[in-house]
Amino acid sequence: MGNLSAQEGQGGEERRNPFTPTFGVTPPELVGRSEELESFRDALAEGPGSPGRAMLFTGARGMGKTVLLNAAEDAAQQAGWLVASVTSRRGMRDELVQTILPALLLQHDPQAHGSTTTGVNVSAAGFGIGATKETTARYEVTPSFRSLLERLAEVQMERGSGVLVSVDEAHRAVVDDLREIAQGVQHAFRTNLDVAFVAAGLPSAVDALLNVDAMTFLRRAERFALGAVRDSEVARALRGPIEAAGRTLSTAALDAALVAIQGYPFFVQLVGYELWAAQPSSREIDGDQAERAVRRAARRAGRVLHEPLLADLSGRDRDFLQAMAQDDGASRLSEIASRLGVTLNHASQYRARLIAADVIEPHQHGQVRFAVPFLRDHLRQHPPTSPDGEVS
Ligand SMILES: Nc1ncnc2c1ncn2[C@@H]1O[C@H](COP(=O)(O)OP(=O)(O)OP(=O)(O)O)[C@@H](O)[C@H]1O
Ligand SMILES: [Mg+2]
Repeated sequence: MGNLSAQEGQGGEERRNPFTPTFGVTPPELVGRSEELESFRDALAEGPGSPGRAMLFTGARGMGKTVLLNAAEDAAQQAGWLVASVTSRRGMRDELVQTILPALLLQHDPQAHGSTTTGVNVSAAGFGIGATKETTARYEVTPSFRSLLERLAEVQMERGSGVLVSVDEAHRAVVDDLREIAQGVQHAFRTNLDVAFVAAGLPSAVDALLNVDAMTFLRRAERFALGAVRDSEVARALRGPIEAAGRTLSTAALDAALVAIQGYPFFVQLVGYELWAAQPSSREIDGDQAERAVRRAARRAGRVLHEPLLADLSGRDRDFLQAMAQDDGASRLSEIASRLGVTLNHASQYRARLIAADVIEPHQHGQVRFAVPFLRDHLRQHPPTSPDGEVS
């Protein structure tokens, strides 16, 4: 009876949990992002020059950036486009140039298997055919991101479609790679090729990236700040998969879930998962099950989101966050400084570091607030235990 296959419908008592409480995994029902996706689809249809062909998604951890990028990639593929997708890390340019784009060209370029004088060696094309063989052998042209993208886009253009370049987790450490990618895309835009670009990252990571030189292309991209989704959408995201699998969610359960989720997409999946798991054999998920599910979801969020994040910070930075957690809303820097017993100058340094790490964000003058959903609740429930974690 332990066979929990994805099979739907009658049969076994226990069906597979439809929710996806894991980062980067497409949810059973994607909600609240139709505006972004529509703009993107329109841009693909509109042709070169459409502003929506360069999009940048920012948002807090778990707000659904990766999932939205994946949805944009799916939309492009459905429109017949090819997708070159990378996650930011050093060497991602090489990955594109040495693996991803050549693989796409091998598969789609009708000339990919021609003689050495053709193929992707675009820059050699100007030489006379007769002399080419020896010339290319002595002066091998290393393909660049720009030349490969251009060739792939030309191949696609002949079939009436294009190429999407997608970059997840954009941040400053990969600025050189990103600059080259952005310049290649920009060049394709200028030559009216059917190319689109989507990227995602944490807000301050993206800000830092845009502030460096020669990032004009990215600065001009259409920027969408992803935030919480509406309760009506959350309700759909919960009910849809539950009802599709033959169970129901009581009104009390839905209300409890909505209060806990507050529109945060990662929590939709986490709470959804626990709602389903509370008592899988019951047909209806009731209020009691929901209360339990919410508590379990919060603990799980602590383990997979908050604790790893806090573990990456210094003890001082954690103290700063603990001091902030005493406030119900935004915190005043001067207050935090006095709670910690440090100078304002000192507190400003913590502040800057935590903002750069996308853990907190500036709010009005001199105030800061948490940029990670439910971090305050987590800190309140987990006062410091480390020896250097004393807070006044
Ligand atoms: N629009 C949405 N509707 C329903 N669930 C969503 C939505 N967006 C994201 N999720 C769910 O939330 C979780 C987090 O999404 P995702 O991994 O895309 O976040 P992220 O912003 O990329 O986070 P990180 O900054 O850590 O990379 C996933 O389980 C995903 O299925
Ligand atoms: Mg992500």
